[in-house]
Amino acid sequence: MTDVDPCAELARWLRGARNVVVLTGAGMSAESGIPTFREAHAGLWSRFDPQELASPAAWRRDKALVWGWYAWRMAKVRGAQPHAGHRALAGLGHARSGLTLVTQNVDDLHERAGSEDAVHLHGSLFASRCFACARPAGNVALPPDAADSPSLRLEPPACTHCGGSIRPGVVWFGEALPQDAWERASQAARECEVLIAVGTSGVVQPAASLPASAKARGAKVAEINPVATDVSNVMDLVWRAPAGEALPLLVAALGKPEVSTQPC
Ligand code: OAD
Repeated sequence: MTDVDPCAELARWLRGARNVVVLTGAGMSAESGIPTFREAHAGLWSRFDPQELASPAAWRRDKALVWGWYAWRMAKVRGAQPHAGHRALAGLGHARSGLTLVTQNVDDLHERAGSEDAVHLHGSLFASRCFACARPAGNVALPPDAADSPSLRLEPPACTHCGGSIRPGVVWFGEALPQDAWERASQAARECEVLIAVGTSGVVQPAASLPASAKARGAKVAEINPVATDVSNVMDLVWRAPAGEALPLLVAALGKPEVSTQPC
């Protein structure tokens, strides 16, 4: 594929497709200033042990440590803005029916960019609920300095119904994905003609199985990511570029006539 312009090729695929899946991961939000999980130096999982912060066992061991870490992440997301790539995807979703946006991200940047129906496989930072009775907790207040330190310890608020502790609304390691979200995502992957994976390392299952599942049923699969990933070998096309650059170029290319020889 070395001679193929990935932007023009992907635009050509999209023009010929009715059903499209875009699967996003942490790299989608990197240019908004939200750290990813697995990059060598900056990734959250190179600085923190997921088992210490993102599992039911960690919560039972030390709720204040876990809630403080999620409060930091919530505050960072609240202070962040969607970038041109998020907006391009939202525009694409409005311009064509048959696009399913599936995200592993627990932020709300797709929604704030205008995507109305993103499928959140790993839950949402802003859907806190009671650990004991599972009732939703609504919008939780954060201390003004929550964005300053990932090591802030913070007691979680108490549930107004049962007094249990409020936990973040994300999927932790060892927990099942929300069933409706997984069913929608896996069905969309089975039925699409094109799947584009953007900013995901392809390491965490079952989300990482979606590109191969789409491909097994005849879809073309592409990756937008500055570096190679665990799912690059499945891809029919790789576009080594950041999401905030590639996605606006792709949308612009879709607006051009197919015969255009201009580089996009
Ligand atoms: P990772 O942190 O594993 O991977 C992020 C990917 O984004 C890497 O492949 C980077 O190369 C790429 N990347 C970085 N900057 C980018 C940019 N500007 N544009 C495009 N790509 C870029 O994140 P995920 O694959 O999302 O789960 O991780 C999956 C899950 O693992 C997360 O949802 C989270 C984590 O543990 C839970 O917390 C349950």
